[in-house]
Amino acid sequence: MTQDQIMKLISSMTLEEKAAQMTQLAPVNFGFNCVTPLTGPDSGLRIRPEFSASIGSVLNCGSAEDMIRIQKEHLENDPHKIPLLFMADVVHGFKTVFPIPLAVGCSFSPENAREAAQIAAEESSVSGIHVTFAPMADLVRDPRWGRVMESFGEDPLLNSRMCAAAVKGYQGSKLSSPYRTASCVKHFAAYGSPEGGREYNTVDLSDNELYNSYLPAYTAALEAGARMVMTAFNTVDLIPATASEKLINDILRKERHFNGPVISDYNSVGELIEHGAAENGYEAACKSLKAGVDIEMMSSHFCAHLRELVNNGQITEQMIDKAVLRILNLKNELGLFENPFKDASREAEASIHLSEKNREAARRIARESAVLLKNNGVLPVSFSGAPEKIGLTGPFASSPYILGGWSAGNQTGIPLYEGLCGRIPRECIRLEDCGQIGSCLEGNPDIPAPDASFYARFKDCGTVIVAAGEHQEDTGEGGSKAFLRLSPNQEKLIQQMSHSGKRVILILFSGRPLEIAPIEPYCDAILQAWFPGTESGNALAELITGAYNPSGRLSISFPYTVGQIPVYYNHYQTGRPKRQESTDTRYVSRYLDCPNEPLYCFGYGLSYSEFHYSNLQIRNSSHSLTASVTVTNVSDITGCETVQFYIRDLSASLVRPAAELKDFSKVHLTGGESKTVSFTITKEMLSFYKDGRKIFEDGYFLIMIGKNSAVTLKQKLYITEQQFKKETL
Ligand code: GLC
Repeated sequence: MTQDQIMKLISSMTLEEKAAQMTQLAPVNFGFNCVTPLTGPDSGLRIRPEFSASIGSVLNCGSAEDMIRIQKEHLENDPHKIPLLFMADVVHGFKTVFPIPLAVGCSFSPENAREAAQIAAEESSVSGIHVTFAPMADLVRDPRWGRVMESFGEDPLLNSRMCAAAVKGYQGSKLSSPYRTASCVKHFAAYGSPEGGREYNTVDLSDNELYNSYLPAYTAALEAGARMVMTAFNTVDLIPATASEKLINDILRKERHFNGPVISDYNSVGELIEHGAAENGYEAACKSLKAGVDIEMMSSHFCAHLRELVNNGQITEQMIDKAVLRILNLKNELGLFENPFKDASREAEASIHLSEKNREAARRIARESAVLLKNNGVLPVSFSGAPEKIGLTGPFASSPYILGGWSAGNQTGIPLYEGLCGRIPRECIRLEDCGQIGSCLEGNPDIPAPDASFYARFKDCGTVIVAAGEHQEDTGEGGSKAFLRLSPNQEKLIQQMSHSGKRVILILFSGRPLEIAPIEPYCDAILQAWFPGTESGNALAELITGAYNPSGRLSISFPYTVGQIPVYYNHYQTGRPKRQESTDTRYVSRYLDCPNEPLYCFGYGLSYSEFHYSNLQIRNSSHSLTASVTVTNVSDITGCETVQFYIRDLSASLVRPAAELKDFSKVHLTGGESKTVSFTITKEMLSFYKDGRKIFEDGYFLIMIGKNSAVTLKQKLYITEQQFKKETL
């Protein structure tokens, strides 16, 4: 349709029809007998009949059959024949499930995020989905929060690059092309910083912290072309994001020139009342409309109050027409007016869902996303086929429930045991079941206590793999936890296994960093698997047997203890930083009973190779500034190293973080091979936001290159704006 045709269509709609177009409901809420996954409180909402024929979009319908049926019936009833927009949470895969985003962040490969998104778009588009509520761009620093699993981690740059890549993967170059879905980036803004890590809790940040740490990833997603934005549940500066004119109209629309639809989160318009930001539904509708929300998800205050708001002059019909135009333009760009069913096809579902090509991609990304945290040489496992066997136990030894949050209900993945049997002769594995882990939600988050005789079953095993972790239902939305240790009986299992003289390999399944310091001493190796998705067991078996050399690096810090949280690498220095060499033992920024440093820092990860860094060089030529380092694989095993480039601005008008990741590069090195890795230092890298404006200030900077955020080669350099005279910000 042309813009004129769309404008003409809008002018022919009543206010009630416009209000309905600006409403998104699950099918059952507007008269369709189609049960879809519930992703929020079930309010039993049933829209009034005068609106149901004109509803604009559908939440979480996930099959071609249902979508075709609903779209057909809707178009028969809608007087204007405006096609429904189908949206769903396709966050890390649809039928082929990829590792959780926090894990994909550990691959430090934006290409992985792009490819996973592209495959998710293919698989979900043939099931009738037009828009996905992803990527989640929220920066996260608190593993007590259940949704850290959905983020790409604690660093603004890594988040930005992964989110931008995901948007490209979902959308491709043309939305109306086959197998493309629009990306709705979420949750705007700063949902990842709730006080106490408690779900939906208050977020209170300075503007400078918001701009420098939390906004970059949303901005990157928008610059990559994300077509929609979802508001967050939380408050920012004591105003719920869904009613924040500053966040939506000012920062999003005016400063970042975003002109696509803004959708509320699930009933977050209605929840303005609970927040104490609106007296009733009328005021909630008024405030969110004025803030710039175009689509109300899973509540109906726009339908209930729009006519009155316009009659009272609180909201103008021009504002409403602009909102409806943004929605119809997105439908038009997806080609829905010409083909309301787009890619929906049961035949295509059968051929595309879980195809071997998609599974292979999931396996590859899963093995690149796991992080080797400890290895006393016990990995990769080697077995001579002699009588000795390899023990395998723990609640995740043969569990298929390793997909993580935001994966459709009854789907499962390849269990670890099945994967290992594909790499190790079955007779060489001694699998002993120890019972399943319960969920906190069920009130029993533990495995049964293993009895003394249990350990005797491993008498012919020198090495035992313990697959432990947390129940996947205890992560994701609504999954905040105040305690992050492994359950008591899992800790006992690991300790007793070690005390019984076994070499213990811990494989950790979790949606967040767990507090593993208490059991770390009993483990000879620790592999953080996260929730690896459909191909979990096959990918882990490749890592455990050495068919693939681990290359993951942490996208989020592992706290020494929950008492340290928030603990993250890009913290501020304070006026009394605790230094290794400081003699003052009291008046420094420290804990009396715990180190400041996390157990494992951002960017950390081991491999079966060993990499040395040397020869940090900074070249200051007339037209560019570059930093380079020599990386040598001093082992005889080919491996992949993620070379990380950090800076520290040593003195500025705002204090700047102790370190900031500004680039990274993955290099493959054969045994004994060396490579020089170079990074161009740009003005953009050294600039920061102050009072909403990006600025550069001359001064001393630390240039740091290394294997993680704590181990780098450093050089101090005075850099002036003159240095970048040809660059513009
Ligand atoms: C949920 C989540 C959001 C999701 C939406 C629709 O409450 O906060 O991420 O996209 O509802 O399912």
